[in-house]
Amino acid sequence: MTRTVYLNGQYLPEDEAKVSIFDRGFLFADGVYEVTSVLDGKLIDFDGHATRLARSLGELEMGNPISKEDLLEVHRELVRRNDIGDGLIYLQITRGAADRDFAYPAEDTPQTIVLFTQSKPGLAENPMATTGMKVISIEDQRWGRRDIKTVQLLYPSMGKMMAKAAGAHDAWMVEDGKITEGTSNNAYIVKNGKIITRNLGTEILHGITRAAVLRFAREAQMEVEERAFTLDEAKAADEAFITSASSFVMPVVEIDGAPVGDGKVGRVAPRLREIYLDESRKAAV
Ligand code: PDD
Repeated sequence: MTRTVYLNGQYLPEDEAKVSIFDRGFLFADGVYEVTSVLDGKLIDFDGHATRLARSLGELEMGNPISKEDLLEVHRELVRRNDIGDGLIYLQITRGAADRDFAYPAEDTPQTIVLFTQSKPGLAENPMATTGMKVISIEDQRWGRRDIKTVQLLYPSMGKMMAKAAGAHDAWMVEDGKITEGTSNNAYIVKNGKIITRNLGTEILHGITRAAVLRFAREAQMEVEERAFTLDEAKAADEAFITSASSFVMPVVEIDGAPVGDGKVGRVAPRLREIYLDESRKAAV
């Protein structure tokens, strides 16, 4: 079956969807994106992703070419047309195509909006949830506005390759001795039962999964502290884990080749994963 994608108001077979070589997303990484997961054909945390999309666009003084209602309809239509049970929907909006110039083009330049699906059967049954993942630490060399979800993802890609080369699954990035986040996820440690994760700011992406997981943790009477933590603290933690729309909650059992705690998946991450998946499935649209 050929995948149907969405481009600027049209549903098209993927090989017929074409974007200009002058698109500012292509030339300047002048675009923002979102990734929303789909479980049992329904969207997880759609509202959070749509709200963050609007914020990213606003921070870059970019227009929002689609209403939240229409965006929801496009997501649902793509799920239907591509028969997605479990998977992801990628959305990207750029400032559109214009002759190459660092200055932004005229405000009436049509923006580019693209959505496509990725089918991932069994997305919530990833075996890594029971075995845990290995991370390495690398220097955080990204730009300073990581709270805006832009498509400039080269450094995170490099980080993922560094992790692969080291036999690990991902990299946690470190700035001034403190962990910022993973290449495509938020980072957490657990010490003496307390969940610790970096406070919000321009240094990290404000994860939609992070917001939901912290809310569920507090509702379950778990102690949460939002503050920067060091690499040394992470290495001495009882547990560690990550969150993102594509991995939900995933335990981390090794950092830089050394076991976290006893090197096995602990109790907090699986519990949060279960609560998150249960509650998100119930609230899915
Ligand atoms: N990544 N931090 C970074 C740098 C991210 O790229 C992501 C998401 C997150 C987690 O955010 P959320 O919980 O809203 O997914 C944190 C997506 C999944 C991606 O690039 O594929």
